[in-house]
Amino acid sequence: MDSEFFYPSKEVVKNANVKEYDNLYKKSVENPEGFWSERAKTLEWFKKWEKVLDDSNKPFYKWFVGGKINIVHNAIDRHLKTWRRNKLAVIWEGEPGDVRTFSYHALNREVSKFANVLKSMGVRKGEIVTIYMPQIPELMFAMLACAKIGAAHSVVYGGFSVEALAGRIQDAKSRVVLTADGGFRRGKITDLKGIVNEAVKRSATVEVCIVVKRTGHEVFMENDRDFWYHELMGLPIASAKCKTEIMDSEDMLFILYTSGTTGKPKGLLHTHGGYAVYTSTTHKFVFDIKDEDRWWCAADPGWVTGHSYIVYAPLINGATILMYEGAPNHPYPNRWWQMIEKYGISILYTSPTAIRGLMRFGDQWPQRHDLTSLRLLGSVGEPINPEAWKWYHKVIGQEKCPIMDTWWQTETGGFMITPLPITPLKPGSGTKPFFGNEVAVVDDKGNEVPVGEEGKLVIKTPWPGMARTIYGDAERYREVYWKEFEKQGWYKAGDSARIDKDGYVWIIGRIDDVIKVSGYRLGTAEIESALVSHPAVSEAAAIALPHEVKGNSIHTYVILRAGVSAGKQLEEELKNHVSKEIGPIAKPEDVTFVDSLPKTRSGKIMRRVLKARAQGLDAGDLTTLEE
Ligand code: WTA
Repeated sequence: MDSEFFYPSKEVVKNANVKEYDNLYKKSVENPEGFWSERAKTLEWFKKWEKVLDDSNKPFYKWFVGGKINIVHNAIDRHLKTWRRNKLAVIWEGEPGDVRTFSYHALNREVSKFANVLKSMGVRKGEIVTIYMPQIPELMFAMLACAKIGAAHSVVYGGFSVEALAGRIQDAKSRVVLTADGGFRRGKITDLKGIVNEAVKRSATVEVCIVVKRTGHEVFMENDRDFWYHELMGLPIASAKCKTEIMDSEDMLFILYTSGTTGKPKGLLHTHGGYAVYTSTTHKFVFDIKDEDRWWCAADPGWVTGHSYIVYAPLINGATILMYEGAPNHPYPNRWWQMIEKYGISILYTSPTAIRGLMRFGDQWPQRHDLTSLRLLGSVGEPINPEAWKWYHKVIGQEKCPIMDTWWQTETGGFMITPLPITPLKPGSGTKPFFGNEVAVVDDKGNEVPVGEEGKLVIKTPWPGMARTIYGDAERYREVYWKEFEKQGWYKAGDSARIDKDGYVWIIGRIDDVIKVSGYRLGTAEIESALVSHPAVSEAAAIALPHEVKGNSIHTYVILRAGVSAGKQLEEELKNHVSKEIGPIAKPEDVTFVDSLPKTRSGKIMRRVLKARAQGLDAGDLTTLEE
């Protein structure tokens, strides 16, 4: 694991935005405030900050205190004063093959018009607008329009179903929901509006729903509540002249729900100032963004990767972004490679699941295409196995593109442990911490574990991109991330990891009740509560087992209510029930009917025991097991 290094070419090193790591890293951690204030100066502020970091109320850190900024001013407005006004900001391709492109000028027009529409619907600074859309340009316009007028967005991944959407709308108390009549996925239409209709029934706060016409299939529109996007955008109120609101550095930019240990998803809150500085810096340094690049982050904007690295960071850096609506293998497994060739993509950032999935189809698919425009590759979301890494490096990157394996989380806002293009790589390791960050792998007491041994990953120092709190539940924020190492003041990531003799970090996986399926983050508790909401089920447990393509797959155990009999049909019904409640990504691989579940004396399900049994392994220490 330690020996194999992949060195960057001279060419890569010569042209890199950042040409050295060790010294700069040393300086950055000796004086993180100095490092970050230099970086903040690369953005445009309406008023300069008074204090870089306010740590007087730990763990509720504040960055660039007193500064006035708007991330949209940096992502769009400031480019309009330069030649970039006419540069392509977004190339979008729909799954059926339709293409739309937007220069920075055009992006500004669309965003400003929609911002005025939102204002006319009474959207105000500080309110949270829920966005539930397919991957279409309007999703990006909607996010930016909210931010421009000082409203916050809460984007809910378009693959989530009724229960998940309703819970998020309710928690954010959204008055306005933005959606579409559907999207295209594997040649089928996803019925987003139908799901919104159901979710809104359960959410008393919703007054307005704006619907983009994407597929043209018939949807139910409620009088006086539902409005067509294109009709509103055609009205005189939708003028392209709109002032960008002056925001406090620490004002809320968005909340993004993610799964945690308990059933209720947490709305992680990010702010304008620190997030803008952190995402744009990490993007520029790690992906070496230059004006001539064409950047493709093949994530979904519904997850943090899309927020930070499809929308905000690339726009702040003035990049040309490719956004693609559909599945990687539709209509053929060459879809991605075809798009790289067609648009001359220079940087591709995706997940190990996507790589493994495409690898399975064989080398002939990428080999048919000219991929020589690629300069750098990236990976995110889960550990990448060396086999997939090497395939990605050899077949896609033609052995000349370094792979940036970036470790980070919804909570961190941007990359935390990551190579730079100049870093000697080891397949499967995220290598070293980004500038300003100190990380460690520790035992339960907070002592660093010996080299090569597994422990808990902690971050020892605050960084500008960190989430500020959990929306509406500051106590939970403290409890989940900061309580365990409160004495030391460290952030607990929830991952286990080890650090090798070269100081390279290897992420092993989650140590809490979070499951990463195809890189998507789900909570066991969410799956369990979906199962228990079915009338046949009395108790349920969900675990993750390793899966060749998805990284992990979901396996469930169910105790039925008295009088209900188990069977193949019920198993199917329960699997579909979970899929309907949460979304297809949460559909369990199987349901095992059991009479009892292993529990601690205090009644907590010991998923570890279920997992060990399922894998035929020793369950380890069972002293807390009930019987
Ligand atoms: C996992 C995604 C290994 C990890 C940006 C983390 C990774 C969780 C990597 C956060 C990586 C993310 N190598 N594991 N490069 N990147 N993870 O919030 O378990 O959806 O805690 O953010 O994904 O997932 P989230």
